[in-house]
Amino acid sequence: MKSKRRSTNEMEFQGQVVTWLNENLSKHGGMGLERATQEKPRKTSGKRNDLVVWQSRIGEIAFLSIELKTPDTPISDPVFLADAAEKAQQWHSRYFVIWNMREAELYPTPAGIARITPADRLYRWGASTGADQLVDWLKPEVAKRLEHQLREILDRAWNHSVAGEGAAVAIDTEIFVTRISAAINALRGLLHRQITSATKGSRKLRSTINKIAIEQGFMGFVEDVDYAIAGQMGYRLIGQILFYLALRRQQPALPALSLSRGDKVPGALSAYWNNVRRFDYEALFKPHALDTLVEIPASGQFLIRHLIDQLASYDWASLTDDVLGSVFERLIPREEQLLLGQFYTPRPVADLLAALTIEGRRPLVLDPGCGSGTFLMSAYDFIASRTGLRHKDLLATIWGFDLSPFAAELAAINLFRQDLSEFENFPRVVTGNFFDRDPGQTVEFPPPHVTHDDMSKVPTPIPIFDSIIGNPPYLRSQNQDDLDSRYRAQLFSAAARVGIKAPAKTDLFAFFIYHAMRFMQVGSRLGFVTPASWLTADYAVTLQRLLTRELRLVAIIASNAESLFPQVDVNAALLVAEKAAPEAGHEGKSLLRFVTLKAPIAALLAGSGDYWDRMVKLTDRIYDPDKSCEDSDIRITIVPLAQERDALAAAPKSARNWSKYLRAPLSYYTLFGGVA
Ligand SMILES: C[S@@+](CC[C@H](N)C(=O)[O-])C[C@H]1O[C@@H](n2cnc3c(N)ncnc32)[C@H](O)[C@@H]1O
Repeated sequence: MKSKRRSTNEMEFQGQVVTWLNENLSKHGGMGLERATQEKPRKTSGKRNDLVVWQSRIGEIAFLSIELKTPDTPISDPVFLADAAEKAQQWHSRYFVIWNMREAELYPTPAGIARITPADRLYRWGASTGADQLVDWLKPEVAKRLEHQLREILDRAWNHSVAGEGAAVAIDTEIFVTRISAAINALRGLLHRQITSATKGSRKLRSTINKIAIEQGFMGFVEDVDYAIAGQMGYRLIGQILFYLALRRQQPALPALSLSRGDKVPGALSAYWNNVRRFDYEALFKPHALDTLVEIPASGQFLIRHLIDQLASYDWASLTDDVLGSVFERLIPREEQLLLGQFYTPRPVADLLAALTIEGRRPLVLDPGCGSGTFLMSAYDFIASRTGLRHKDLLATIWGFDLSPFAAELAAINLFRQDLSEFENFPRVVTGNFFDRDPGQTVEFPPPHVTHDDMSKVPTPIPIFDSIIGNPPYLRSQNQDDLDSRYRAQLFSAAARVGIKAPAKTDLFAFFIYHAMRFMQVGSRLGFVTPASWLTADYAVTLQRLLTRELRLVAIIASNAESLFPQVDVNAALLVAEKAAPEAGHEGKSLLRFVTLKAPIAALLAGSGDYWDRMVKLTDRIYDPDKSCEDSDIRITIVPLAQERDALAAAPKSARNWSKYLRAPLSYYTLFGGVA
């Protein structure tokens, strides 16, 4: 959303800075700082008001004074430095910062007549806010970064005041990630061996593990199922430990993690995890069968205890958000996710589906099998760029379900780390089976404002969504029969609930579409990555019929320039459909569009300017034509909906060959007709 306002002045921005500071202080009551104010300058040379964060205003004890400059003023001028130090002394402030909306330098206020020099600097922030001139703060994305930088400044000063310099080992991303990855690898190795030997003696365990692999959709797609499961267990456990330590930065009430020799993991950690679940992060800390699939051997117990001790020696308090964010981001390399049974959709594909299906000022979005959250992050970024909604509100509009506790954990961390400084930061990610969910069913989430006295949760009904996006699991046909019989029955009855009698060979992804219908209203859109095979498969006649009626097909998009889902050996096509008003008589005019991308999505987005503006332009190229057309990048074949619907009605058992509309060049139709 673009701001309509054109002008601003320094006073107005100062006022905004004070508001941000006070909002932040009220969220972090534990800091013991009173409030921020604008003060008449005491220094006679001062023209602007001074900005002061108070420990006690009555007692005239300031904590931080802020020397605010505009982006065109360099902060390195020694005159400014001396001036800012003098002002800070007048306010009896412990620290001061010089900030030009781009860069900032934090200093301790010198005592008495001591002179300040650049060598006294405690911390420096580089230009990361995107503000080039004062007026830029009116842009929502710049305002968000300014607020973030301001918060970091306050946190840095606060952490310095609490811990002092050098109290604990500072976290270096490189060393930290290497150390944790080594622990994960070792733990996974131990668990893998444990699983291999335990499954030899237990058919029950073998079948439980296979069941997990089939249900999550990775059976037949990963080479070593046991290795994937061992990896999921190891990553999950260590991810929980890391996340707990990160949370403690903002929640000092959480007890310090410590295990003694006799303690056994995971049991010994459950009391800690339950403490977090009192306020949220259900998706991360809820116990799950995966946690206790096999016992962690003694060497693994030692490894975890040792890791916790090592991690405890780090200076978590002064860990900045960007470092923590990159630790989480780099912890599981994407190629590793594949071995763990986590397939992900390439970001440009997820971004395109988000842009094709999400609309409105506060759209509610669901990914019913969200994996590590690729689509949730696309939705997050797309909605943020179009509406300027803030982190907390964005999280409240984006929901994700996943059967796998490991995947749900990753998705929650991925969303959370978009803005680690927000304490009220509760991803709507829920672990569990999509087919157990119904609209209106309640899920417990924390209240909008969490306090230490009130951590009670609010039952939140699952809403009807404006957009349902994702890449649901597909099943290789040889695995169809291995599905747990109860689960199979559940799939067919989910279809029946929306009036669909699904043929026996129906692929798993189609059931996701059928069940998703229940969470949609007229005008809601669905955008899924699907295996292209259904476009000609027999079972698809049912789906095709649906797509020419209640769930009107908007577009099928394939690419002959790249694989849209490269990690699995499946030819994929994107499906976009919209829930239609019941037989409103408008469908005579309706058109189905079959789109073939002749260049990779990244190439179709080439150009300068905002990424999402370019993405929206691409969606316009897909949606605008009402006649078949082709250029060097894209071929669009437009087919009247009525034609397909009538053909399906005339031969109810034969699927239409929809893949031909994607494959045949337009000249074919000029000769033989059938398209608009
Ligand atoms: C192909 S992956 C897609 C992951 C993610 N959407 C992406 O593209 O990055 C499918 C996901 O669906 C999840 N899943 C499978 N069956 C499910 C079910 N019945 N309910 C919820 N999630 C399910 C799997 O655990 C897996 O994470």
